[in-house]
Amino acid sequence: MPEPSHSYDQDAEWFVVKEGENWREIRFHDYSAIYDVPGLYEQLFYETLRCDSPRFMSEFLDAELVKAGESGSGLRVFDLGAGNGIMGDELRRRGVEFVVGADILPAAEEAAARDRPGTYRAYHVLDMLNLTEDQRHMLDGYRFNALTCIAALGFGDIPPGCFRTAYNLLETDGWVALTIKEGFLAETDTSGFATMIRESLRDGTFEMLESRTYQHRLATNGDPLHYVGIIGRKRKDLP
Ligand SMILES: C[S@@+](CC[C@H](N)C(=O)[O-])C[C@H]1O[C@@H](n2cnc3c(N)ncnc32)[C@H](O)[C@@H]1O
Repeated sequence: MPEPSHSYDQDAEWFVVKEGENWREIRFHDYSAIYDVPGLYEQLFYETLRCDSPRFMSEFLDAELVKAGESGSGLRVFDLGAGNGIMGDELRRRGVEFVVGADILPAAEEAAARDRPGTYRAYHVLDMLNLTEDQRHMLDGYRFNALTCIAALGFGDIPPGCFRTAYNLLETDGWVALTIKEGFLAETDTSGFATMIRESLRDGTFEMLESRTYQHRLATNGDPLHYVGIIGRKRKDLP
């Protein structure tokens, strides 16, 4: 890890890894390089930086389902930005049987199959901003009634347009579980997420049931990084 006295923007964080005799520097956002090494993603984000988002959000979703008198076994989940399958695994542990993963990186699909085989009913490598007709038809066929998007919005990862396409695949009244960095919901946000969420709440496109601020993980200097976890229901398509 860099010296703790240095702090970096979240999209500039890096670490070095020893491979044989050589050290290699990898940026946190070079997910392909991290997924390619078995166990590296878990060692970096979970053991060293204490990431808690998939566990926290699957528990949070479960609690909201119970309040609504529903259960995970009735969900057909689209896990967008699924990575190597940690959220899918948490959902399966909580009784969700039907989870389909999608990620933009082939390395993520390979890592999910290698590290958590059988977690996903199917896993698709897709660019949600440029779906082919066949891909759209295939995704529609799943009749998803839940969308999870964990630790994957913003920071050069999933942009608002990509989230919108996934949201609009959901059946009406479908469940949504997402996490987003606190600042992305501020008035000053320029990513487009704050406006999209604010507008969707105002016009009834999205009903937020509950939101909680929690510690997503540590930064490389040991400072806590806080995210907002949101659980809600889709009421209409996003425009
Ligand atoms: C920090 S990882 C989170 C993985 C997983 N959700 C978890 O909680 O362990 C973010 C993931 O989002 C994916 N991603 C980034 N941009 C994307 C896009 N436009 N469409 C789909 N996935 C994307 C990345 O490839 C990466 O696997």
